[in-house]
Amino acid sequence: MSEKQRKPKELTELPGVSAVIADKLAMAGFGTIEALAVALPQEISSITGLSLSASQKIISAAREALELGFKTADELYEKRMRVARITTGSRNLDKLLGGGVETQIITEFYGEYGSGKTQICHQLCVNVQLPRDLGGLEGSAIYIDCEGTFRPERIVSMSRGLGLDPSKVLKNIIVARAYNSDHQMLIVEHAKDIINEKNVKLLVVDSVTGFFRAEYPGRETLVMRQQKLNKHLHSLSRIAYTYEIAVVVTNQVMAKPDVVFGDPTTAVGGHVLFHVPGARVFLRRLRGSKRIAKLVDSPYLPEDEAVFEITEDGIRDSVNKQ
Ligand code: GTP
Ligand code: MG
Repeated sequence: MSEKQRKPKELTELPGVSAVIADKLAMAGFGTIEALAVALPQEISSITGLSLSASQKIISAAREALELGFKTADELYEKRMRVARITTGSRNLDKLLGGGVETQIITEFYGEYGSGKTQICHQLCVNVQLPRDLGGLEGSAIYIDCEGTFRPERIVSMSRGLGLDPSKVLKNIIVARAYNSDHQMLIVEHAKDIINEKNVKLLVVDSVTGFFRAEYPGRETLVMRQQKLNKHLHSLSRIAYTYEIAVVVTNQVMAKPDVVFGDPTTAVGGHVLFHVPGARVFLRRLRGSKRIAKLVDSPYLPEDEAVFEITEDGIRDSVNKQ
């Protein structure tokens, strides 16, 4: 940050962006320099009517304004030092994740029905609001609900469990119900507009795979499904990195992965985060309210397991560890 030169802050300060172009971009969900920096030239071209090369120039200018692109190692180090974590409510689970759910990457929770994916998402939406010394980020959350399973009353009991005022906590969770995979993707694009404005530190997509699986069933549509899902995950990954927020996605898998071996989308049988940086956590039911989490394929954390419990107050350590 040695450079004293003022960087553009408004779209119209970028070369080639008139007020009219800026309006068109804002209407289409590219109202910020951050959003523009991670856009594709094709998108910008179709929104603005500009040529591909003019669109690319605008994107490059946005990236330059954000100082994206080539970075020296000390800049990367600084960015890495800004990685923050949200507590899950269970110290064991936090430890497994290296201190909690990280910003700047995607964390995928995958497992069978009832394994606790949605409960963890609810808990994180509450915990992200906590002060930093209590494991939060003093921020708000966006919850993209693809299965209609968001429950405000669950937020209320989890807030009470932490001694927080439920009405305040509810106000800091922005819920968007998605109705199909295109809608889900569109909501994510629009989410960019409110991340800075609402001090969002967590973006949840529950579940990230459901619609894709339902809309592209069978072998014939597998390639298409995978391409679309990859695009979506890349977009989420760029949001996590650019805005330095935590992105949490869930993915339901079936009990017997061996039965469906060979399905490359692994909508059933495994995690979907193949080509994007992130943490993958496999959840499994134990007895009663107990669950076990296993960290899978982590580039820098040991593959380990943690037992936690889903209680009335939310996610907690299991009282009698086994
Ligand atoms: P799918 O979305 O179906 O794939 O499952 P999931 O992994 O999202 O499961 P979810 O997080 O919904 O976990 C459901 C489990 O959480 C239930 O079986 C209950 O054990 C527990 N649970 C859900 N709501 C409550 C609640 O209000 N109180 C308590 N104590 N437990 C709850
Ligand atoms: Mg669920």
